[in-house]
Amino acid sequence: MSKRSERKEEHLALAQMFFNKQKENSFDQMHLLRPTLPESKVDQASIRTSFLGKEVSAPFFIEAMTGGSEKSKKINRQLGSVAAKENIALALGSASILVKENEQLSSFTVAREQDPDGLLFANVNPLTPASDAAKIVQELQADALQIHLNVVQEAAMPEGERDFCWLNNMLEIRQAVTVPIIIKEVGFGFDQASLKKLKDAGFDLFDIGGMGGTNFAQIENSRNQYNLSYLSSLGLPTVITSLIAEKMQLDFFVSGGVRNPLDVLKGLALGGKLVGIANTFLQQLMQHDTEGLIEEIQEWKKELAILLAVFGKNDVNSLSSLKRYYDLPLKNQIDQII
Ligand code: FNR
Repeated sequence: MSKRSERKEEHLALAQMFFNKQKENSFDQMHLLRPTLPESKVDQASIRTSFLGKEVSAPFFIEAMTGGSEKSKKINRQLGSVAAKENIALALGSASILVKENEQLSSFTVAREQDPDGLLFANVNPLTPASDAAKIVQELQADALQIHLNVVQEAAMPEGERDFCWLNNMLEIRQAVTVPIIIKEVGFGFDQASLKKLKDAGFDLFDIGGMGGTNFAQIENSRNQYNLSYLSSLGLPTVITSLIAEKMQLDFFVSGGVRNPLDVLKGLALGGKLVGIANTFLQQLMQHDTEGLIEEIQEWKKELAILLAVFGKNDVNSLSSLKRYYDLPLKNQIDQII
């Protein structure tokens, strides 16, 4: 197995080891004001939405995780079939590995084969040669391409990238690719200045990937001989980084630490077009197989439709009008940053 494939398999194992379903995060310090008399009815159709011209049955999706190893081929096949069966969007893990190891392509295309018509996002790192990024999009017939920004993760990896000048190559990728580009963080969030830099450079779609769930500094640190655990605190909580994107009137997905349908509701209320879930769904798949993940997604859909009615809404696009309020520790950070 190549070093890159090995790393992919280690990430899967470590994501399981560090998974903590109950871990508190910024969503717990954010609240939505509930009408005591909502005068509404639960309607499963209320959670349907569309993105890039494709209809999905729910506003949440399976976030970018894996590809490029034998184990991840099986997982991507399973995720593709779940996304197709449940008609939700799916993002695949970074396909930059293909640049060096073309034979791994099938570990990604299996997902598209399972879900030929679904909303599918490809994913690359920001230094992927533009022509390779275009090839990856084409091979996967991707509806959009996520470019992930992961400076803290790279810093925590002994073999990680040490040159963080990425924007020029990202612009080249955009030139070479015809589908929309989504700039994504992997769990440390976006600050306002970087979002502005990206916006000024012409990028207009973001996946906020804030802190509060999977922490790649923690995962990479456990593969290290040195203790770099202090890096795991270098993120902006998902609620804060979403508020920044909302204030800048950007189009964005909310992700990072989404644990349940109430977190999804909060992500939508913060202005997310879609809400992404990575490790919570991965662990359900690992422990309870495809059927277990399908059941969980069906349950989330039911609960989200109930929550919409509880909050007096019948449409996921109307949630940003809900009154939000925050516990003081989070409010304090919001006041300092925004
Ligand atoms: C990831 N994530 C990720 N992100 C990305 O843009 N490209 C990638 O290849 C991967 N790979 C990956 C592997 C595994 C095993 C996990 C758990 C996650 C990050 C992921 O998309 C997401 O941003 C973070 O995991 C935060 O979301 P959760 O896990 O808190 O829901």
